[in-house]
Amino acid sequence: MGANRFNGFTGYGIGIGLRSPHYEHILSRKPVVDWFEIISENFMIDGGLPLHILDQILEQYKVVQHGVSMYFGSAEKPDREHLRRLKDLVKRTKTPWLSDHLCWGSVDGRYTHDLLPMPYTFEAARITAQKVREVRDFLEVPIAVENVSSYAEYHVSEMTEWEFLNEVVERADCGILLDVNNIYVSSRNHGFDPLTYVNSVPAERVAQIHIVGHSKFEKYEEVHREALKANRFLADTTLGIAV
Ligand SMILES: [Fe+2]
Repeated sequence: MGANRFNGFTGYGIGIGLRSPHYEHILSRKPVVDWFEIISENFMIDGGLPLHILDQILEQYKVVQHGVSMYFGSAEKPDREHLRRLKDLVKRTKTPWLSDHLCWGSVDGRYTHDLLPMPYTFEAARITAQKVREVRDFLEVPIAVENVSSYAEYHVSEMTEWEFLNEVVERADCGILLDVNNIYVSSRNHGFDPLTYVNSVPAERVAQIHIVGHSKFEKYEEVHREALKANRFLADTTLGIAV
């Protein structure tokens, strides 16, 4: 991905997700990797083995943080304790940008631990954007919101998913972590043309691109293979990145 203000003006190249089964291989074999994406929540703890491993990774590699529990789309204010721990990790990793999902997943402090699809309304966009701004101001690092795969639609929606994404990032003045696999999955679920979605994405705001499906898709091999083909097509033809 090219350098822009939403990824801290970095030209990091191609990274891969850091997963625990690979720790030993990485630390002993030191493979050539541009950077690793970590799941922030796996390291938001005081001490212990995960942070010990992370510190060793940080000695040799660049690391970017990706979160799964910010719930930018939930109506309640961000959890201050969660943000404080997240900021400690931001200082530790020196992540040039930080991403989490454009979804909701909590009500009144009760968490679903799921990435639930948003109602695409102007009010939801306004509340979500305000939350993104608050989080960015607290963490003092550029934020990129990731499109999730959606499997449900709301009668109250006033726009398409891609219009909603545009509305949120314009209001928040934030970046996008564009997950092309999620676009493909959503296009299959809802019957839209994935290229219509991709062509509407403001390319100048794309901080990072996720390619290849989540593990939950790997058990459906056909879907996974097909999604991978679609990912390559979308990324190659519309965003000009190498896969
Ligand atoms: Fe993703």
